[in-house]
Amino acid sequence: MTTSRRIQFGVFFQGVNFGTIWSSDRSGSQYDFESFRRIAQTAERGLFSAFFLGEGLRLREHFGRIHDLDIAGRPDAQTQLAALAAVTERIGLVATQNTTYNDPYDLAKRLNSLDLLSEGRAGWNIVTTDNAWTGANFRRGGYLEHADRYRRAAQFVAAAQRLWDAGADGVGTPVRVGDQLVSFEGPAPLPPSAQGRPVLFQAGDSDEGREFAAASADVIFSGHPGLEDAVAFAADVRRRLPRHGRTEDDLKFFPGAQFILAETDAEAREKAEWVTRAQVSPQTAIRFLEPIWGRDLSEFDADGPLPDIDPVVDEVDGQRGSLFQGRRAVETAREWRESAAAEGLSIREFVMKRSSLRTFVGGYSTIADLVQKYVEAGAVDGFNVSPYLVPEGLDDIVDGLIPELQERGVYPAEYVGTTLRENLGLPGVGERAELAA
Ligand SMILES: Cc1cc2nc3c(=O)[nH]c(=O)nc-3n(C[C@H](O)[C@H](O)[C@H](O)COP(=O)(O)O)c2cc1C
Repeated sequence: MTTSRRIQFGVFFQGVNFGTIWSSDRSGSQYDFESFRRIAQTAERGLFSAFFLGEGLRLREHFGRIHDLDIAGRPDAQTQLAALAAVTERIGLVATQNTTYNDPYDLAKRLNSLDLLSEGRAGWNIVTTDNAWTGANFRRGGYLEHADRYRRAAQFVAAAQRLWDAGADGVGTPVRVGDQLVSFEGPAPLPPSAQGRPVLFQAGDSDEGREFAAASADVIFSGHPGLEDAVAFAADVRRRLPRHGRTEDDLKFFPGAQFILAETDAEAREKAEWVTRAQVSPQTAIRFLEPIWGRDLSEFDADGPLPDIDPVVDEVDGQRGSLFQGRRAVETAREWRESAAAEGLSIREFVMKRSSLRTFVGGYSTIADLVQKYVEAGAVDGFNVSPYLVPEGLDDIVDGLIPELQERGVYPAEYVGTTLRENLGLPGVGERAELAA
């Protein structure tokens, strides 16, 4: 089911980040429904296919303190999406939910509920979590090694699918699952929604993650937005599809990206400068370094050079949820220090350069041309856009970029259906089952 090539957009709110600016007078708080309602309705006005919430199951803390320099937690994703379902009509509602710490019967029922209440607009972004430190919230410690997380994810998703399929045969149809890492017995709790079952997204980039996506996902949310990188990533995942009995039409690619746009390229560059400074406050810059250095760096001046001391290796191991293993921290710190010194960058300037989430900075027509190149290369089906600002961070895309893309014929002129599955151009649940039979 290949339609003529088009691009789509989704909204992506990370669970913890400093990429979205919440410090404007109009931003409100991440605990207020209103902040998200405005963004979701703007996205729907721009025919976005999905509103997507990342989720962290544990608040980030650092040296015993919850840091509140950016977003430290949000109301539960599914609860929030259920509320958004009531004030939107077409946009998909995607919840990031973890297969390592949830239980399949319960999560399958909750997702099925969101799917029914939104009349077929629910999606599930399947993650396994990259840090053991989340496990402490569940009194399970490290809980599962990386490979077992993906084994459990595969069994978890298969079990959820069985519950949803059984629901199509009738509520109460018995289901018994007895895999090694997932086992339960229980009747299908709910009937299917208008789209059959929630759309499955996947975010995870390791070899196991890619294989899992090729086997099970409808959409990959990737971290590969650069054009060449996106082409290579899609090629790598697509070559895995046949061994799972699937084709290219079964899997969509949505890399995460940020757009800073204006009428002209020069204005957009100026805006990007402002955005980056607002994203990376002096405290944020220091905190960006602290997980690598494994120590409190608050005595350092963000406008001065990078710390000339080495990291405390014991403090930065994977158990604490750092992105870096201890032994790499020393190397990383040295590399960063040398590269900042070579370019004459202060801590803040270095972090502004390093942490930039944005991929697209430019005038509307420049960026429309660039997006068209992505469409022609066939490497992405859409971009999962993190708004740079609440609440106005999508206005430029909706009012400036999308009309340009529509003129070029590479963006939809309307929602093609009422369900997320239809609007993403995915095969229907039954259609795929028939193909596989
Ligand atoms: C683009 C992207 C977004 C992600 N968002 C989340 C998230 O919101 N919550 C979360 O727990 N994990 C998130 N993850 C990480 C997943 O937990 C993933 O399962 C983890 O990285 C382990 O898989 P991997 O080793 O295959 O990357 C994200 C990963 C990627 C690539």
